[in-house]
Amino acid sequence: MPPNRRLSWTLPAVLIAVGCGDAPATPAVTRSGPDPWAAALRVATAVDRNPDPRVVEIDLEARFGEWEYAPGRRVRAMTYNGSVPGPTIEARAGDTVVVHFTNRLDQPTTIHWHGVRVPAAMDGSPHSQPPVAPGASFEYRFTVPDAGTFWYHPHVAESVQMERGLYGAIVVRGDREPRADVEGVLVLDDLLLGADGQIAPTGDLVEQHNGREGTVPLVNGRAGAELPIRAGQRQRWRLVNAGSARFYRLALPGHRFTVVGTDGGPVETPRASDELLLVPGDRLDVLVDGTGAPGSTPVLQVLPYARGHGAGLTEAVDLLRLRYAADPALPALDPPAAGARIEPLATDGVTPRTVTFDEHIDRDAERVVFTINDRSYPDVPDIVTRVGATEVWDLVNASEMEHPFHLHGFFFQVVSRNGLPEGQRSWEDTIQLRGEERVRIAFRPDARPGHWMYHCHILEHVEHGMMATLRVEP
Ligand code: C2O
Ligand code: CU
Repeated sequence: MPPNRRLSWTLPAVLIAVGCGDAPATPAVTRSGPDPWAAALRVATAVDRNPDPRVVEIDLEARFGEWEYAPGRRVRAMTYNGSVPGPTIEARAGDTVVVHFTNRLDQPTTIHWHGVRVPAAMDGSPHSQPPVAPGASFEYRFTVPDAGTFWYHPHVAESVQMERGLYGAIVVRGDREPRADVEGVLVLDDLLLGADGQIAPTGDLVEQHNGREGTVPLVNGRAGAELPIRAGQRQRWRLVNAGSARFYRLALPGHRFTVVGTDGGPVETPRASDELLLVPGDRLDVLVDGTGAPGSTPVLQVLPYARGHGAGLTEAVDLLRLRYAADPALPALDPPAAGARIEPLATDGVTPRTVTFDEHIDRDAERVVFTINDRSYPDVPDIVTRVGATEVWDLVNASEMEHPFHLHGFFFQVVSRNGLPEGQRSWEDTIQLRGEERVRIAFRPDARPGHWMYHCHILEHVEHGMMATLRVEP
């Protein structure tokens, strides 16, 4: 950004303020603009029916519904409270969240609170609760200890239920949030439609192996939506990748992203970048400064990404068009301040465990088999540890295909990739694990004993065995 740009826009404002008395009254600068967050991209906030400001109590129903992913285009879907994404759950760090959940589907389901440090009994995984039967209810109750961007989704028949629309965002705010003029969630997904225009049924062996990638890119459940922005404005995007298998490598020509948060909340040092990568299950919290010209319409793109075995996008795809208002640019804001300090975990003397991810095709049975340490869920032996013990895991991908790794319950730090120390410390629950890569992670389970899943977040891979259990004893 040219150094004189700030001056050129702040100066006239000052002159107007002290200008002659008969000058027309200038409206106060509304940095948020007339339409702070595009109507087409707006996601309802879950209705909090508890008067206690520190308790967020909501009703959530999984039910069939119509999903209008573009004007006039509807598919039969599974929804939370009738919409895709489901309502955004908004809370402050430390709040108690109570969810009265009812299953109105014709099949069992659960809700997993991806990234939220819930007690094991509230985790919604196959180990923490029997699935909620059709017609039955379950009360989820937990506190949200960390500020950040999280999400919720079922942990039963994932490739069917999530693909059909069961997912929603969770926004937890802390005391020190980076300044932005507007903010919103951008939940990324895609749809694969059949010849009848409805969501395609489960596919062939190739889909089972590669994971489903749709042909209709979606932001907040909508295709072809536009996001209004104003020159000079700072927007905060809370990005969530809710897709089954799509890796979102994002770029916005003429703009840079400033990453202020990852899975586990604020980063230590905000960092500017031309590109972002969100693997399935991943979140990134970014600031986007409106460096475009008034009236321009830049497009957020998904760039090609090869993730092994020919899977992944081969050509860039348009994801979201931004529309700059004609208004003159607002004065730019200062760069964001540093985030929270992240202490490195001391790992001296800890013997690393090796966790190997692999896959093969069982030709006789005509199925793909995904393994962790050569076994498939539910036959993978548990890893057993205890509260407070430092864990160091070497995640080894023995296959050519990438397998985004997700750990329930605890945030971890990436120590190194293929032996090279990771540049920036951050707290993560979902990371990229490239083909043939070895990633060392470290974490220390806090006082929430129980069974915690870890798995690849490509939904078809979970269902074909690439999942296992970490058992944390008191
Ligand atoms: Cu979003 Cu078990 O994961
Ligand atoms: Cu995988």
